[in-house]
Amino acid sequence: MNAPVQIGALPRFGTVEKALATLKPGEPLYCIFPEKFGAAAKRFLDGFPGDALYAVKANPAPHVLDQVWAAGIRHFDTASVPEIEMVKSRFPDAHCHFMNPVRANGTAKKAFEQYGVTDYVVDCDFELDKLIAETRNAKKLRIFVRIATPLGGAVLELSSKFGTTQPDAARLLQRVKDAGAQPAICFHVGSQCLSPFSYAQAIEMARRTAQMAGVELQALDIGGGFPGPYMGDDVPPYHWYFDTIKEALETLPDPKIPVICEPGRALIAEGMSLITQVILRKGDRLYINDGTYGSFDELTLPGWSADYPTRVYTLDGKGRVLPLPGAAIPFRVYGPTCDTLDVLPRPIMLPANIAANDFIVFDNIGAYSVAVRTTFNGFFPDNWAIIGN
Ligand SMILES: Cc1ncc(COP(=O)(O)O)c(C=O)c1O
Repeated sequence: MNAPVQIGALPRFGTVEKALATLKPGEPLYCIFPEKFGAAAKRFLDGFPGDALYAVKANPAPHVLDQVWAAGIRHFDTASVPEIEMVKSRFPDAHCHFMNPVRANGTAKKAFEQYGVTDYVVDCDFELDKLIAETRNAKKLRIFVRIATPLGGAVLELSSKFGTTQPDAARLLQRVKDAGAQPAICFHVGSQCLSPFSYAQAIEMARRTAQMAGVELQALDIGGGFPGPYMGDDVPPYHWYFDTIKEALETLPDPKIPVICEPGRALIAEGMSLITQVILRKGDRLYINDGTYGSFDELTLPGWSADYPTRVYTLDGKGRVLPLPGAAIPFRVYGPTCDTLDVLPRPIMLPANIAANDFIVFDNIGAYSVAVRTTFNGFFPDNWAIIGN
């Protein structure tokens, strides 16, 4: 096995409290918990009946990729050539799959010829034609036709931009087969999917589509969507997902068909916390050093109503770090930029006696935080530490 390329050792602390006491960080600090990355990966390695591909888009930070790799994940759902290059440069033995249904000209050719990528997704004729023309070796490819699925139990839908109808997918599957590639189906039930049944429903749609096409599927990709534990969302136990998926797979003509999934959020959400500092308190308004242009973008998405769990620490006169007690009241929390929109969309319950210089730790913040932060107004959170012995 190849060791990851070294990116410089991160400072390591036994606990978040120790990191706080030592660094008293005035800038946002991402805390990585290797044990939690290990536990999240183990769920899939032990419970999912096939390969779990880490969806790199959810958090492409090198420190996070290293954790995912160290936890035993060897397959990566990549959506662009830069993502493939990033993964392959760190882990030359990694298996990359190009699962973006719309690819810029020449990118499939590069992925196939330079990086040996053989899994691709399509949902229309134009992309299928381009893929076959660019790779000029369809027999080596496994081509997944993406079907659109109903929103069901997911918070964020992922079937309005990509995915086609079952009759159209059936037609594309026949074309894939005629081209000599391996026909396969994929879908994404939507992100933060709180209902395991959504997967069973989508697997049934895949079964009907293959039957309509009259082709024998060579693989099934059930996508991502597995949830993270946020405040306000009731996340079912993970084994419900795997049990439901396994039961649904039994209904396929070949229950032993190779199955893959593409979890992003579920592999990384719990592995990271973010330490922020209160810069100013004005009544029930707090101004902190990270915001919606930094790590908190996902909280602002339409339809999203959950929040990250928080804990608050203060420094006593001797510089010791103590949890801040006190009954919680709602605070409006603003980010550090000059933009009025830089405000968390819902009030956050925090101790009534919170003050400037106190620290708010946001837990379970690994997914779609780091990945979408910007440099707006000169702010770009990028300090990291490892927490654990
Ligand atoms: C094609 C594809 N696969 C996987 C994922 C990861 O989804 P999640 O983080 O909900 O598991 C996404 C997210 O957008 C996606 O578009």
